[in-house]
Amino acid sequence: MRKIVIAGNWKMHKTQGDALAFLQEFLNYLTETPDDREAVLCVPFTALGTLSKNLHGSLIKLGAQNIHWADEGAFTGEISGDMLSELGVRYVIVGHSERRQYFGETDETVNQRLLAAQRHGLTPILCVGETKEQRDAGETDSIIAAQISKDLVDVDQSNLVIAYEPIWAIGTGDTCEATDANKVIGAIRAQLTNQDVPIQYGGSVKPGNIDEIMAQSEIDGVLVGGASLQAEGFARIVNFQ
Ligand code: G3P
Repeated sequence: MRKIVIAGNWKMHKTQGDALAFLQEFLNYLTETPDDREAVLCVPFTALGTLSKNLHGSLIKLGAQNIHWADEGAFTGEISGDMLSELGVRYVIVGHSERRQYFGETDETVNQRLLAAQRHGLTPILCVGETKEQRDAGETDSIIAAQISKDLVDVDQSNLVIAYEPIWAIGTGDTCEATDANKVIGAIRAQLTNQDVPIQYGGSVKPGNIDEIMAQSEIDGVLVGGASLQAEGFARIVNFQ
């Protein structure tokens, strides 16, 4: 039985004060959280401490947006797995396309970060996805297959979430057809040794399309950017029928 994981990725949004205000409102909307699914908030490093203190007793899990591959050392500006787990962090996004595009992330560094997350007892959410040009050239399946095989070298598939995020659908309002996403996710699953890994879809998910996305047989959750910044809308997504 695969777990359903609904995660918000706030990216570089919200101060500590904004995060607390969000949480109070969000918890009001989540009074009837279904117990068959996990709700995760992946927030900026600066908001982790405050949210951690205020999440006690709630069903919401805390996530970070990056982790360094070393356990400690001279890596100015980086954050280690120990630093995250000490704050009660349970999930960490690894290899988001924005990190691959703007911060030089490669499949090799993604792999190292996945291993570091697992070493520290965190569940990594590995992001993979193709560009518009790659999709138009019919290369989606080969690009995703290559990312999965390089990123998952030596990774324990019993403590892993994968997010399929077509890059052209991120922040554009241009959602991938749910049936297309379902096919790509099915192909990802066929490549895995563990069939219980939850595989999410990400890219312009909103309250208006969550039901159709979650009706697909292969899709086990969503990774939500923009629509996770608004408490009522994100609660609607978490509470999809
Ligand atoms: O990680 C979530 C993501 O990149 C999708 O962003 O704003 O299209 O939901 P958005």
